[in-house]
Amino acid sequence: MDQRRRSAQEDLISFLLNAAESGEIEEDEIVPLVFQVFNASYQTTASLLGSVLTAVLGGDGPALGRLAEDLGLVAATVGEVLRTDPPVQSTGQHALRTVRLGGHRIAESDFVIAVLAAGNRDPEQFASPDEFRADRTPRQTLGFDWGVHHCLGAGLALLEARTATQRLAERFPDMQLVAEPRRWPTANMRSFRSLEVLLDSRARPAVSP
Ligand code: HEM
Repeated sequence: MDQRRRSAQEDLISFLLNAAESGEIEEDEIVPLVFQVFNASYQTTASLLGSVLTAVLGGDGPALGRLAEDLGLVAATVGEVLRTDPPVQSTGQHALRTVRLGGHRIAESDFVIAVLAAGNRDPEQFASPDEFRADRTPRQTLGFDWGVHHCLGAGLALLEARTATQRLAERFPDMQLVAEPRRWPTANMRSFRSLEVLLDSRARPAVSP
């Protein structure tokens, strides 16, 4: 922040410093805001890319090689992964007022956990919801939440995931999983502990006797 104060750049920290100067936010909100954006943006997008690779290399989605030629299929595959295997499984909010929902009374200020991943598999919305179908229509996803808290970076995240998937498909169409992907044992975030791949199966080194 001190550095940006001395020399403003076209970036988030300079933007927030500016907002603090004009009184739109308090200066002590800047660190938590930057922290939130970094946290919300990096791990989630990395998880989505890992889940896309797990789906296509694990045989649920279309083969990676097919994605190199077909941008529409890349977008559809990323969208279906966001539905079946969303990086953020649930969100938690406090109710602003008392409501009845699905036969339950939720009192004002109660803490409510919304399992977005379950909504993504609602059988009233999706035929055979557990099946991975890249050509599924319509395919509304709760993967970026809904309403006022809808993800600020959804457009950027989709662009990153589609671009990375397409580039990987172009460069390494023969990529293979070499071990079962391992995730961190967290309930909410589907991030990976390891995702081991062989980039080019044709370049597999000869096994010595
Ligand atoms: C695949 C990647 C991503 C997924 C799955 C994702 C998912 C979500 C979800 C589910 C929420 C709602 C959280 C809640 O209501 O408690 C959210 C909010 C948010 N996301 Fe993302 N996100 C992703 C990428 C990003 C990126 C790239 C950025 C920033 C560049 C970002 C910034 C934010 C912020 C600031 C919020 C809070 C919005 C608010 O409460 O008003 N996210 N995201």
